[in-house]
Amino acid sequence: MSSRARIAVIGAGGIGAAAHLPAIQALAADVELVAIVDPDEARRTAAGETFGCEALYADATTMFAEIAPDIAVVATPPHLHEPLAIEAMRAGAWVYCEKPLTGSLASADRIAAVEAETGRWCVTVSQFRYSGGSRQVEADLRNGRWGRPLVGIAHTNWYRGPEYWDAPWRGKFATEFGGSTTTQAYHAVDLILWLMGGDWASVSGIAETVSRPIDVEDASVASVRFASGAIGSIVSTVVSHDPETKLQVIAEKANVTLDTLYLPLLDEWSVTTIGEGDAAMRVDGWAADEPEMHVNAHRAQLEDLIACWRAGEKPKLTTLESRATLEFLTALYKSSAEGREIARGEIVDGDPFYEALDASGPARVEARRG
Ligand SMILES: NC(=O)c1ccc[n+]([C@@H]2O[C@H](COP(=O)([O-])OP(=O)(O)OC[C@H]3O[C@@H](n4cnc5c(N)ncnc54)[C@H](O)[C@@H]3O)[C@@H](O)[C@H]2O)c1
Repeated sequence: MSSRARIAVIGAGGIGAAAHLPAIQALAADVELVAIVDPDEARRTAAGETFGCEALYADATTMFAEIAPDIAVVATPPHLHEPLAIEAMRAGAWVYCEKPLTGSLASADRIAAVEAETGRWCVTVSQFRYSGGSRQVEADLRNGRWGRPLVGIAHTNWYRGPEYWDAPWRGKFATEFGGSTTTQAYHAVDLILWLMGGDWASVSGIAETVSRPIDVEDASVASVRFASGAIGSIVSTVVSHDPETKLQVIAEKANVTLDTLYLPLLDEWSVTTIGEGDAAMRVDGWAADEPEMHVNAHRAQLEDLIACWRAGEKPKLTTLESRATLEFLTALYKSSAEGREIARGEIVDGDPFYEALDASGPARVEARRG
């Protein structure tokens, strides 16, 4: 197949306009932007002007009927991901869907069923995995360069002021599903689980709304066990006065550390090892510093997806792969509600947490309002 992939963007708000549309523009040799959908007229008009697209739609159903794109980017509020992803696949498109993929394991299983039914794939945005530094670190950890991972740390301590929750979908279980852990810390959580080898086995957590006037949590802490015997610590907040994303794998021969806020670019990663006198010693030149190592990660993941679409191959991070992160988040919320460690595989059909990421959330809000 030599023609360009025809791609439509559904949702031209914050991340649609800031990351997806520029990524498509940067890949113009491989993709053609064929439509933008957003019920907000001002947003779709502005996006159409900025990114040179005249096919502007207020609803996706009409767009699918008239345009039949090859790939649909879904960058809407989370509660619309499942219906739009399913509609897109049934209309013949592959899907590149923003995180969180959806609001429950039951919903993820419905999306996976439609992948099987249609032969189309729904890929979850996991851009932190696609930064040059992350890819290099993951490859090094898998091939044993730094020895066995022992302790994994992912602390996402961000700040969001009151106006952040003006967007009507934010802060509520029905539309956002979860708070700081699911919305803000998603990338660091997904990345640490992947870097540790993907074998998380159980989690003990506490998720609470400690400050903001919202229903979903604004802070959580969690301890993790991995099947390998490694352990982990995850903190996810939006109430910090010193915003940072700090991610670290302490392995047998080195620490690999990401110190950043939003971008896990190569330069934000470092490797240290114990040197003379037990002092930490930076390892220089640990990564191949090539131009593609610095590429915007939304774009790098899209590039990978397009290559797979063109070759007719299964891409990474289809529904069953990203479901592992969704299951981890669900287990963290269930642990918080039940005050015990939750094992992977424990949440199945019939459990309220199978039907909702934070099934205990609404009752927690009621108790708080008392
Ligand atoms: N990967 C990342 O780094 C990242 C960063 C921010 C947000 N996100 C995720 O992206 C998604 C969107 O977040 P945002 O901050 O851009 O939200 P936003 O509110 O800024 O934008 C969402 C857009 O979707 C539009 N929309 C609503 N209903 C629609 C429909 N039926 N069809 C088409 N468009 C519709 C809205 O009008 C709005 O323009 C969320 O899932 C969020 O968690 C990801």
